[in-house]
Amino acid sequence: MIQKIKDHIAKVEAFTATSKEEVEQFRIQYLGKKGILNNFFAEFKNVPNEQKKDFGQAVNTLKQTAQEKVDTLKQALEDKETAKGVYGDLSRPGEPIPLGSRHPISLVRNKIVEIFSRIGFNVSEGPEIEDDWHNFTALNLPEYHPARDMQDTFFVQKDPDLLLRTHTSTVQVRYMENNKPPIRTISPGRVYRNEAISARSHCFFHQVEGLYVDKGVSFADLKQTLQYFTTEMFGKSKIRLRPSYFPFTEPSAEVDVYWGLETETDYKMTKGTGWLEIMGCGMVDPNVLKNCDIDPEEYSGFAFGMGIDRIALLLHQIPDIRMLSENDIRFLDQFKSVL
Ligand code: PHE
Repeated sequence: MIQKIKDHIAKVEAFTATSKEEVEQFRIQYLGKKGILNNFFAEFKNVPNEQKKDFGQAVNTLKQTAQEKVDTLKQALEDKETAKGVYGDLSRPGEPIPLGSRHPISLVRNKIVEIFSRIGFNVSEGPEIEDDWHNFTALNLPEYHPARDMQDTFFVQKDPDLLLRTHTSTVQVRYMENNKPPIRTISPGRVYRNEAISARSHCFFHQVEGLYVDKGVSFADLKQTLQYFTTEMFGKSKIRLRPSYFPFTEPSAEVDVYWGLETETDYKMTKGTGWLEIMGCGMVDPNVLKNCDIDPEEYSGFAFGMGIDRIALLLHQIPDIRMLSENDIRFLDQFKSVL
C-alpha cells in the first residue's frame, strides 16, 4: 500500500501541463472529492495499527506534493497569459524593420541645397504646370522666338497657354515678382521636355537653378560663387566659363569643372579631356528684371542652372538615366550607406 502511494508521489512530481484544463483534470484526479487522496484517507481505518503512522505520513506527503504541483502549474500558465496580453506574446523576439535609403536624386539635391544655404541662399519652389509667361515670355523669350525650340515643350491639350515647365527658371520669375532685392534663392524641382527617352536623356528630369539679385552684383561674384560650389560639391576648385547663349542671361556661359585625368573612370567621364560640363549660367538679362518689376539701372544679378540627374549619374557611376525612375529596389538599396 505504502509503495503505491510512493509511486503516486513520483507521478505527481513528474507531471507537467500546457493548459489550465489539464491542471484542473489533474487536481480533480488527486484532490477531488472522489479523488485518489480521499480514497487513501478512506482506506486508513483498514490499515493495521503498526503501519498507521507511516501510511498517514505518506498520504500527507502525497497531498502536499499534489497541492503544490497544482499551485505552481496554475501560476506559470497565468504568467504566460499576462505576457501575451492584447499584443500577443511580448516575449517573442521582435521582427526586424527594414531600413530604407534615400533616392540618389534626393541625395544630390540635398547636398546642393545644403551647400548654397551656407552662403545665404533660401529654397523656393513653384508649380510644374506653368503658363507661357513664366516659362518663356518673362524670360525674354517672346512668342515666335527661335530659342523656344531649344527646349521641346509638352503643352497641355486644349489650352496653349499651359505647359509642363521646361526649366525651373520659372520659379525665379515667380520669386522676383513676389520679392524685392536683395534676392538669393535656389529652386530645385522636376522639369519636362519632349525628348526621346534613352540611356542619356529622359522626358522628365530635375534641376536646381540659382538666382542672386542685388546692387552691384558682377560676373566676378558669379564665378566666385560657382567656384565655391564646385569645391564643396566635388572637391574640385578649377573651373572654366565658356561663352554660350541663353535668352534670359547676358552674357551667358557654360561651366566646366576640371575633373582631372588620374584614373580610367576620369578618362571615361570626361571623354579624355579632363573637363566636365556641369551647368549654364550668366548675368540676368535687364529685360527679365524689367519684366519682374525690378529696375535694371539699380540692380543686377546672376543666375545658374544645373541638372541633378546628370550629376547623380556622374557621382554614382550610374550607366542609364532610366534607372533613376524605375524604382527597382535592388538599385535603390545600394544607396543605403550614402547620407
Ligand atoms: N534654364 C537653363 C536650362 O534649363 C539653365 C540656365 C539657368 C542657364 C540660369 C543660365 C542661367 O537649360
